[in-house]
Amino acid sequence: MHPNISPRKVVTLEQFIIEREQQLPFATGEFSQIIRDLGLAAKMVNREVNKAGLVDILGFTGEENVQGEKVQKLDIFANLQFLQALRIGGQVCVIGSEENEEVIPVENSQNSEAKYVVLLDPLDGSSNIDVNVSIGTIFSIYRRITKGNGPGTEQDCLQKGTEQVCAGYFIYGSSTMLVYTTGNGVNGFTLDPSIGEFLLSHRDIKIPATCNIYSLNEGNYRKFYPGIKEYLRHIKGKYENSVRPYSTRYIGSLVADFHRNLLRGGVFIYPAFTDRPKGKLRLMYEANPMAFLTEQAGGMATNGEERIMDLQPTQLHQRTPLYLGNVSEVTLIHEYLRKYDLKKIN
Ligand code: AHG
Ligand code: MN
Ligand code: MN
Repeated sequence: MHPNISPRKVVTLEQFIIEREQQLPFATGEFSQIIRDLGLAAKMVNREVNKAGLVDILGFTGEENVQGEKVQKLDIFANLQFLQALRIGGQVCVIGSEENEEVIPVENSQNSEAKYVVLLDPLDGSSNIDVNVSIGTIFSIYRRITKGNGPGTEQDCLQKGTEQVCAGYFIYGSSTMLVYTTGNGVNGFTLDPSIGEFLLSHRDIKIPATCNIYSLNEGNYRKFYPGIKEYLRHIKGKYENSVRPYSTRYIGSLVADFHRNLLRGGVFIYPAFTDRPKGKLRLMYEANPMAFLTEQAGGMATNGEERIMDLQPTQLHQRTPLYLGNVSEVTLIHEYLRKYDLKKIN
């Protein structure tokens, strides 16, 4: 090679899966098919997000566009794109989506032995759709646990986070990215819109050791329990040789807040509080996938007491308090919760 030519090689998502994901907990072909299906749906959603200001797709469910087609809200559109792509892909026997009350059994005429289960938050950050702020899609993949062929059941969806074989998110931001793990580290891919491919851009992401950002909706402060209030008082203090006070960064899209904290070093908190004793975020669609990513990036993910991925789900849409960050920060929060929440007002 000419000495002036950079040896840097562009690695597509597809190449990465074939070359690097040798340790996959499931067959590479099946995995790359599911990722391809998710990627295709994400590109469709990305296209709609990018022209969102130009067409009447936002916030107008039930209305007709200029072509006389029914216009869907972006979250419904996203849900349909992901469901359709996974159905056509033929590797998935049941899907759980935040947008659907019940699980969606998948009848695969081509592959009745489809043995994967996908859980989805098709559009995360819905309050930011209309205002040009980053939003995302969160997914996790499990193996089927019920016996037999044909469609899977709710039982296949109600597995602990430790059983995830893959989890990740797409972020539709200033650029569009896919970040995922199969239990072998976390890698990030950026969509090059000119060629329509996700290219490896963030190899083996690790949460920075220093945490100087906190992300939570502090508007709820009055309703917080004492432990979290005391922790907030601590991180806002100024001490010699410390990074305190921390900066607040809160977008209100879990994907975007998580992504920034993962790259910059920060803790994400959605606690339980007086009128939300179980928190707000969903265990199956939000907490488990982000917990898997956090742990694979060297961090810690809990509900304030227990590891998120050890929680036994009982309901598809159940909620959980959520703490995501580096190990020392989440451990510190636990100390505050233990010390002060003895006085919890119930
Ligand atoms: P979704 O748009 O999928 O319903 O999720 C919204 C979530 C999450 O993205 C974000 O972290 C959180 O809601 C924000 O909640 P608050 O508005 O209560 O802060
Ligand atoms: Mn969400
Ligand atoms: Mn959602």
